[in-house]
Amino acid sequence: MSFLLRRKPLDAPVPDRHHRLARTLGWPHLIALGVGAVVGTGIYTLIGVGAGLAGPAVILSFALAGLVCACAALAYAELASMMPLSGSAYTYAYSALGELIAWIVGWALILEYTVVVSAVAVGWSGYAAGFLQGLGIHVPQMIPLGTLGAMVVHVNPLAVLIIAVVAGLLILGTRESANINSALVLVKIAALAAFVLIALPHFDASHFRPFMPNGFVAHQAGGQTVGVMAAAAIIFFAFYGFDAVSTAAEEAKTPGRDLAIGIVGSMVICTLLYMVVAAAAIGGLPVVEFAASGEPLAHIVRTLGNATAATLIAGAAVVAMPTVLLAFLYGQSRIFFVMARDGLLPRGLGAVHPRLGTPARVTVFTAIICSALAGIFSLADIAALANAGTLAAFTAVGISLVVMRVRNPQHPRPFRAPMPWVISTVTVAGCVYLFLSLPERTKVLFFTWMVIGLPVYLLWGARRSLLARAE
Ligand code: ALA
Repeated sequence: MSFLLRRKPLDAPVPDRHHRLARTLGWPHLIALGVGAVVGTGIYTLIGVGAGLAGPAVILSFALAGLVCACAALAYAELASMMPLSGSAYTYAYSALGELIAWIVGWALILEYTVVVSAVAVGWSGYAAGFLQGLGIHVPQMIPLGTLGAMVVHVNPLAVLIIAVVAGLLILGTRESANINSALVLVKIAALAAFVLIALPHFDASHFRPFMPNGFVAHQAGGQTVGVMAAAAIIFFAFYGFDAVSTAAEEAKTPGRDLAIGIVGSMVICTLLYMVVAAAAIGGLPVVEFAASGEPLAHIVRTLGNATAATLIAGAAVVAMPTVLLAFLYGQSRIFFVMARDGLLPRGLGAVHPRLGTPARVTVFTAIICSALAGIFSLADIAALANAGTLAAFTAVGISLVVMRVRNPQHPRPFRAPMPWVISTVTVAGCVYLFLSLPERTKVLFFTWMVIGLPVYLLWGARRSLLARAE
């Protein structure tokens, strides 16, 4: 049972040339990577779902999910500056909480990142299909391939295409991808700013009454989990992505300082942006009128009489949403890369391409899995499932923060989170509460995934990890 206690030393040796990434990213790239990963399906689409669950009080759901994520971001920033290694929450848990917990966190992160990539690719394919339809080009969203047991398996051609394009970019080079990402992030922010400028002059405070039609605590109504907390558990999807910055640790030029700037900076920008967008949306149109829309922001602007701006906002979503794919596909390949390098997954997966300096093999592998999932799972469950994986990772990061403060108080920390015990408690309690507020079906799917992971670890990682072999 020694694996339960096996912890990665804080000053682990620098990886050899074949398992090391090129350092090409400065802090503006890292902030852009964070904002690129955060602003996406959540604010563009799930704001409507949240409003349907909580009513105007969805603004409270935004504030609560934002608070939990802000605390998690501070914990991430300290740990990332202290351990500037790729791998994010998995790496911190490996040093703070031991190999078994690290495996559980890594396995949850694999779920989170894969499902987010698939979900955003499917969401994007919906926007893109509508856009192409407008040009007179019909591309079917789902082509049935056959059945797998009771399940019909499809291929989503546009989702596969966008995943292939983003994966190709990532393989060509991290810096090139980061530059394109930065430009697209500006498009995304411009679209949200345009939305606010159009909706705000129509602000009507009466749209906020009744404020909390479904109450505060998550509860079942009409076969659905509703209320402010149920909405917060879904809206949580809109806030994360800043954690993807920490997966870039080994490619940052000055990781100690720049990672903290990237994580906290992107979180602050997105929280401010979201609160303003949510207030402008509810003030602009009563929630019942946009909650069911698949493109709520464009719908609000159209209803307010500005059809051209609505088309432009929807167009910006098509152009810029792939940045979320870029950041998560990037993060996914880096998590795989580090787990393979540590020996918890097959080591061949972690090889860096000799000329390009990127983990090409694992990027292709990840892209294939994400493309397959995009044709199998329904979008309805996907955001909630991704949230479950993220909540598990954030909980581990919240605990790791105080464990490291107690166990390694002297270790240099270029960034120190203020009031670590408060930050840790809010992160852990908030994540557990949000997890409990998720739909029952999601919890079952999440635990099924974790149960599948345990034998994988016991049969492979527990025996073959670098630390196991060193013992
Ligand atoms: N926060 C990301 C989004 O909303 C995952 O798309």
